[in-house]
Amino acid sequence: MMSQIPVKKKRQRQSEPTLPTDLEDCVCFPEVVLCLVEKRMGSSRKAFLTTLARRKGFCVEAANSERVTHVVSEGNSGDEVVEWMKRNGSRSVDAAGSGPALLDLSWFTESMSTGRPVEIEPRHCLGVSVQAESLEDRCQVSPYACQRRTPLAHKNQVLTEALETMAEEARFCGSEGRSLAFSRAASVLKSLPWTVRGVKELHFLPCIGEHSRKIIQEVLEDGTSTEVENVRQSERYQTMKHFMKIFGVGVKTASQWYQEGLRTINDLQAHHAKLGKAQQAGLLHYRDLNSPVKRSEAEAIVQVVQKAVDQFLPGASVTLTGGFRRGKPSGHDVDLLITHPVEGQEVGLLSKVISWLDSQDFLLYHSTHRNASQALEDQELSVSMTAMDRLDHCFSIFCLNYPHGSIKGGSRAWEPGYELKDPGDATLWKAVRVDLVVAPYSQFPFALLGWTGSRNFERDLRRFSKHEKKMVLNSHTLYHTEKKIFLSAASEEEIFQHLGLEFMPPEERNA
Ligand code: UTP
Ligand code: MN
Repeated sequence: MMSQIPVKKKRQRQSEPTLPTDLEDCVCFPEVVLCLVEKRMGSSRKAFLTTLARRKGFCVEAANSERVTHVVSEGNSGDEVVEWMKRNGSRSVDAAGSGPALLDLSWFTESMSTGRPVEIEPRHCLGVSVQAESLEDRCQVSPYACQRRTPLAHKNQVLTEALETMAEEARFCGSEGRSLAFSRAASVLKSLPWTVRGVKELHFLPCIGEHSRKIIQEVLEDGTSTEVENVRQSERYQTMKHFMKIFGVGVKTASQWYQEGLRTINDLQAHHAKLGKAQQAGLLHYRDLNSPVKRSEAEAIVQVVQKAVDQFLPGASVTLTGGFRRGKPSGHDVDLLITHPVEGQEVGLLSKVISWLDSQDFLLYHSTHRNASQALEDQELSVSMTAMDRLDHCFSIFCLNYPHGSIKGGSRAWEPGYELKDPGDATLWKAVRVDLVVAPYSQFPFALLGWTGSRNFERDLRRFSKHEKKMVLNSHTLYHTEKKIFLSAASEEEIFQHLGLEFMPPEERNA
């Protein structure tokens, strides 16, 4: 039977006469649409079989056609066919059996020699394992973090830690693009409901570049990656990490210090490195600011800020955002969002709150900004966005008090992060980074969405808006660049709706 069909031979295809179009277009079996799987068949043989089928009145289309009813393959397993079809843009193929029939070449040869599509029999069908269904799920991982559910606890910790070290190292070198690539790869792995055990599984995943793949392979095979370990051991990486833990110090300053030969905090002091106000405060509270902020501490700060807000603007609310809103048990800072249901009432509130907190010795450092905003990159927007400079924020270092009695025996003073700052003073305290943001009520859902994070989630939400929806999203508004309109929203859910996205609760935004 098989002998009727020539095996791969270039010459044979060349000798095949080209068909007149009228013949080629003559479809005798409109209810049957074939798709030939090129994998293992090869392109020339596929072309030959396609011509043959068309001459016999069969319709043949590409894998991405929704009309395909019969998928014909030679030498592939059912799972391989599912995978190949998916990779070639098929949306209708599935392992559950509702899509096109997955057939062995025997069905094709029999049909060709009979001159019509023969009845499909079990012996023609390619079996698809249950695993292929999860294989199918694996094909559906979105390249956008805002379309992936990413819980806090995930199954690929060792791999993501390795990739995030590489991302950090690239950032230390000023290679933002490379850093983003590693960061994206790590983010994809965080969203997977299974543990990656082999590099083969990576074929189904988006955003895994060559270098990331290599790191993952090393970790899977050896339990650790030499390249990552070398980075972690390197003096430059360690020093940069150390310096950047100082509040107010970024890549530029840290790498300048490194180049000047500075290695430790003592070096900074000995060489009188020029420090800004934020950096001085950062250095002063280095230990506290690098010990995780617990949820209970964040909640205590919410109480203090709420008390301050209530004095000046009753009815105003204080919402805990950032990592804590995503369910993290601890964080590096406390992100608070303030608003009032009567638009306009919030104007001037932040400076009053800051003054009061300062007068009560709650602030060790603060720096207030009027948000000139990232959105103003777009000229078109800047004209219509005058309300925006009202979104004020303040980066501060809070002095969180621990009344003497609330800490048993004062023993916790010796835990990392707790210092008895003034032995004469009967209170214990801890320096905590706090970001305060005030949003007008109409912008609150956008600000809430923007400050809840994670950073990977936010970045992709904006990228998705721009590239897939022609919209500009920021912490203030959503703007349709073609319709030239602002889309208002009364809740985060409405913003997701505008974007045509399924709502993602904060706990699943840990991308
Ligand atoms: P954070 O840096 O506080 O991250 O920014 P986090 O997720 O809360 O993590 P930890 O637990 O503190 O380490 C929180 C969100 O606030 C936004 C970021 O986009 C992020 O999504 N943000 C932060 C801004 O929009 N602007 C800023 O200046 C800082
Ligand atoms: Mn935070």
